[in-house]
Amino acid sequence: MIRAATLSDAAAIARVHVDTWRAAYADILPKTYLDGLSYEEFGRFWLNLLSKPDTRCVFVAEDEGGVFGFVSGRPRKNFSKGPIDYDGVLDTIYVLPSHQGNGAGRRLVAAVARYFVEVDTGSMLLWVFTENQPARRFYESLGGVLVGADGFDLGGVWVNEVAYGWRNLGVLVEEV
Ligand SMILES: CC(C)(COP(=O)(O)OP(=O)(O)OC[C@H]1O[C@@H](n2cnc3c(N)ncnc32)[C@H](O)[C@@H]1OP(=O)(O)O)[C@@H](O)C(=O)NCCC(=O)NCCS
Repeated sequence: MIRAATLSDAAAIARVHVDTWRAAYADILPKTYLDGLSYEEFGRFWLNLLSKPDTRCVFVAEDEGGVFGFVSGRPRKNFSKGPIDYDGVLDTIYVLPSHQGNGAGRRLVAAVARYFVEVDTGSMLLWVFTENQPARRFYESLGGVLVGADGFDLGGVWVNEVAYGWRNLGVLVEEV
């Protein structure tokens, strides 16, 4: 089930965020950096973000075991990174390793796409680590097109990233 997140989801989202980072980025980011991630710190981040629902959307995927995935996105009004002719940005999407490959990611992207359409945001982009090949294949399977490249320092390591864009969200929305 996919639903809009509430304030009470902050801790569960933080756990999924940290656990999935550690699994997905083990070969990309330094171990010391990943070991240092904190559920509490991420929980505060998500609590703060969820307290401003008018600026973005957050959806969770859950089953009888609780929240196992989430996505967030926002209109790109004050966000200058990347080509300017994409109106929305999908900021984060994470599904626990135990639940990957079952269609939840596709449905979470669809939920954000539907939100964007509802708030008059007709296109979107996202950034992904260049080395994160599984996620890149996921975005390409959803019709994302390479539209940018950048890099930044994270935990003392330079990481490269690429942007995927969707000019038209219609196909994504239909996945819900
Ligand atoms: C990337 C991620 C969000 C995708 O979610 P998911 O639930 O695993 O993906 P889905 O099961 O919805 O896959 C949807 C489609 O994408 C494609 N796909 C997904 N993962 C793929 C992979 N590793 N290789 C090739 N295609 C892939 C499949 O074709 C699938 O289509 P199908 O349903 O017809 O088989 C999830 O795997 C994840 O959290 N990964 C680790 C964290 C991460 O990299 N997040 C993105 C950061 S930018």
